[in-house]
Amino acid sequence: MIKIVFALFFVGCLGSSGQSSGQFYSSNACTCDQLSYESDCTKMGLQCTWNGTSCSTLDCNLITDATACAANLKCMWTPNSSGGSSCKTFTFCSQLTGATQVACLQMSNNCPFTDGTKCGSSNQLHSCSHLTASQYCEGYISQDGICMWRDSTGCTAATECAPLTLAECNSAKYGCKYTNNVCSQQLCSDYTTQQTCTFVMETINKGVYQLCSWDSTAGKCQIAQNYGGLGQGNCYSTTLGTARWVSTSAGGECLSCYAQTLFVFIIALFIIMI
Ligand SMILES: *[C@@H]1O[C@H](CO)[C@@H](O)[C@H](O)[C@H]1NC(C)=O
Ligand SMILES: *[C@@H]1O[C@H](CO)[C@@H](O)[C@H](O)[C@H]1NC(C)=O
Repeated sequence: MIKIVFALFFVGCLGSSGQSSGQFYSSNACTCDQLSYESDCTKMGLQCTWNGTSCSTLDCNLITDATACAANLKCMWTPNSSGGSSCKTFTFCSQLTGATQVACLQMSNNCPFTDGTKCGSSNQLHSCSHLTASQYCEGYISQDGICMWRDSTGCTAATECAPLTLAECNSAKYGCKYTNNVCSQQLCSDYTTQQTCTFVMETINKGVYQLCSWDSTAGKCQIAQNYGGLGQGNCYSTTLGTARWVSTSAGGECLSCYAQTLFVFIIALFIIMI
């Protein structure tokens, strides 16, 4: 189950880009230098370091957390000379030894493929339809999503909640829910407290999330139209590290890091055109 949750998150990283109000994509994570507050920089930022005034990326050899190392695409978590493991600059997937996809991903998120011995990059991944037996199919991470096996249809990518079994459904946390023997899309309105009213995964094979917001008057959780309901304490974490808190004359605002990147890109394009 942990494998599939992890895998779903990873599939998000292969996924799309784009931004509409109240939506975010797990692939559009903030970079360390976009974080202007120490709390954001050090919270999930095991890849980042705060020098007193600004946030910057840690060198691979200074990262001591295995997950943070593997998640940094410039680094890889590899066995070292003293029998442990340490974080080094990423070279090639084929240098990594892993018998399972998860074992390879735990060394580098660049490397979701394995031939059984050596790891490989995402463009080596099989498509679900290529896998002709349930034991190879079920839970396989393909470029189209997690594969699932059905005797009638063979191996296909899980793209919606309805066909999922109880175990598959429960593993798609924030995406699907299992009620009355049926797996269906998790909705903001399913959350009944302000604490749990965070986000739902809108498309389980693409890493597209929808932010929820708490209507305190009605006492209900609903789809958020924007990031306005997020404060300094939860802006970064509730958007899975895709937005950060910035100071403004009005006090502060939660802004998407992706929109910022896009904005800089558009400005750059304008400057080139002039
Ligand atoms: C922190 O890093 C920034 C950017 O590299 C630099 O401009 C600043 O002087 C540094 N501050 C301190 C206190 O070292
Ligand atoms: C090797 O890994 C171990 C455990 O992760 C660590 O304590 C040790 O410092 C590392 N040695 C080298 C030479 O990097």
